[in-house]
Amino acid sequence: MGQTMTKEENNQKELVKEFLGGENEEETVERLMSFNTLMMRYRSAIREVTTKLQVLDDELSLYGDRNPIESIQSRIKKPVSIAEKLGRMGLPVTVEAIEKNLNDVAGIRVICPFIDDIYKVANMLTCQDDITVVAVKDYIKNPKPNGYRSYHMIVEIPVFFSDCKKPMRVEVQIRTVAMDFWASLEHQIKYKKNVPEHDTLIQELKECAETIAATDEKMQNLRRRIE
Ligand code: GTP
Ligand code: MG
Repeated sequence: MGQTMTKEENNQKELVKEFLGGENEEETVERLMSFNTLMMRYRSAIREVTTKLQVLDDELSLYGDRNPIESIQSRIKKPVSIAEKLGRMGLPVTVEAIEKNLNDVAGIRVICPFIDDIYKVANMLTCQDDITVVAVKDYIKNPKPNGYRSYHMIVEIPVFFSDCKKPMRVEVQIRTVAMDFWASLEHQIKYKKNVPEHDTLIQELKECAETIAATDEKMQNLRRRIE
């Protein structure tokens, strides 16, 4: 009781109001329901894809003696981020626009021990006949200028509901423990743009990414020699 809302919570409330506010109460309720339905569908898609990844990990750890997946995280994009992204794209904030234009409402991050595990997991997932690959961005073979490395895919999976089957899109990011370490820290640092040595920091972050990539390669070679 009596708790004050944080700035973010306030922003979120405003955006949701703007987003879901209809001409009248009935319309608002209707929009809220269709938004909640869509988010439920994205959550279900995350479950489907996560289960597939867990099954693969389970099977491979039984026949090999190690797990190709270290951990799996997932998230649903927050309403405030959904509204912001649609705004940036010059699109109206509606349920239809979300479904049609956003590929990253449902997001899964798979952390693998070694670089070759990334490609193994990606291949085994996309070989399955109910998965359609919509797009791939290989930031491992082609790192971003800032040094970011990760394997990104947008996949589509049919999800069965009580009265319909819906193809749902999920963003899957696959990276090594080391790439994840760099991305997490870079994410925390990059928004602080008003520091004096900004350019030097960017350069040093990039150097860190390269050191990490070299270590990833070395660890993979070590493992291959031992196996
Ligand atoms: P978004 O509008 O951010 O979704 O980017 P995009 O549609 O161009 O897709 P892209 O595949 O490039 O990036 C999607 C996601 O990857 C981001 O939301 C981040 O989670 C992650 N990502 C991409 N680039 C970087 C980066 O430079 N640093 C970090 N830390 N994460 C990144
Ligand atoms: Mg995104």
